Amino acid sequence: MNQVPLTMKAWTKTLDERGGFTLEDHPIPKPVAGEVLIQTLSTSVCGTDLHIWKWDDWSRENVPLGTITGHETSGKVVALGDGVTSHSIGDLVAIECHLACWSCPRCDEGNAHICENGSIFGVHGNGAFAPFFVVPAVNARQIPEGLDPGHASIQDPLGNAIHTLTGGPIEGATVAIHGLGPIGLFAVNAAKAMGAKYVIAIDWDNQYRMNLAKGLGADLVLGKDDDVVQAILDATEGRGVDNSCEFSGSPTALANTVHSTRMGGYVNVLSVYGDSMPAVPMNEVVFRYLHVKGINGRKMWSTWDTMHELLSAGKIDVDRVLTHRMPIENFPEAMELALSGECGKIVLDH
Ligand SMILES: NC(=O)c1ccc[n+]([C@@H]2O[C@H](COP(=O)([O-])OP(=O)(O)OC[C@H]3O[C@@H](n4cnc5c(N)ncnc54)[C@H](O)[C@@H]3O)[C@@H](O)[C@H]2O)c1
Ligand SMILES: [Zn+2]
Ligand SMILES: [Zn+2]
Repeated sequence: MNQVPLTMKAWTKTLDERGGFTLEDHPIPKPVAGEVLIQTLSTSVCGTDLHIWKWDDWSRENVPLGTITGHETSGKVVALGDGVTSHSIGDLVAIECHLACWSCPRCDEGNAHICENGSIFGVHGNGAFAPFFVVPAVNARQIPEGLDPGHASIQDPLGNAIHTLTGGPIEGATVAIHGLGPIGLFAVNAAKAMGAKYVIAIDWDNQYRMNLAKGLGADLVLGKDDDVVQAILDATEGRGVDNSCEFSGSPTALANTVHSTRMGGYVNVLSVYGDSMPAVPMNEVVFRYLHVKGINGRKMWSTWDTMHELLSAGKIDVDRVLTHRMPIENFPEAMELALSGECGKIVLDH
């Protein structure tokens, strides 16, 4: 740990109010057995970070004051805890933020992303809006050689998109993406990269993102001025799409997925719904024999393997989704820009 300093300044949630982040001094964390110390290269801004910035009810209950947040990140391994043989000093890695116990029934069956004893890096404990952080070595995933660290840092949302898509057919399939936030935009691009036959991208009124979706390969883009269900039926010979993915968090969009997915088709829902309990047309789900699935996180590690392949082959147009890049010093500005919606993904470089 020769070149690693003893202390660092990190963006820390210190005040019980909207915003409420200050640059604070912290000791550089020490990796315990099984952990690695990472020097941060890039950290991207996630919707979860915006909830914390807004300091809503969920954040107040889940994020202790004093936490360094930030969980979508990439960096360089600079120290190894006892027993770590999977990594070497200098390895470039990206982080899976779901910290699992690896010994509960969910972990045993291959569903570590819903570990019964799990927690989230950068939410429940210190994260990566900081120059250094520690994680279990298993959560530090080697990145494709030569990949830009900024591109490596967005694998959390790209992985969300791919995990959602893989809840249904993709290759040769018709796919509808509802909600064109950063995750929906990655889903449009990944669906095309994974061989979807026809991709329909739907937002409400965010023209900026609807234009991005066109550039990312969407075959049809719809918004609030369209009859979304009818337009999807018209584009699919009246059947509906094979695979509908919901990334908007809007109850209207959720109902639209049910009405515009083909008989026996797949509805995959990553969204988290805010205040209102969405009404789901259950009889349609039943009579149309739909497979409705909730999606959480990324499969550990098949989603990561898929991303590794796609990113190595240059099949994801990360640059088009990554609309803004700025130094970590501009953290407050990045949060306000992300809240405005006039952006795709924002990456902060260290
Ligand atoms: N389950 C998980 O593991 C997980 C992880 C990350 C994010 N999420 C959730 O995934 C969702 C997507 O995240 P994000 O950061 O990309 O979202 P975002 O909030 O940035 O984007 C949502 C988009 O949906 C659009 N929209 C609003 N109403 C719509 C409607 N009726 N039809 C179509 N589009 C509509 C908005 O204009 C916006 O562009 C969020 O709900 C988020 O909370 C879940
Ligand atoms: Zn995230
Ligand atoms: Zn577990």
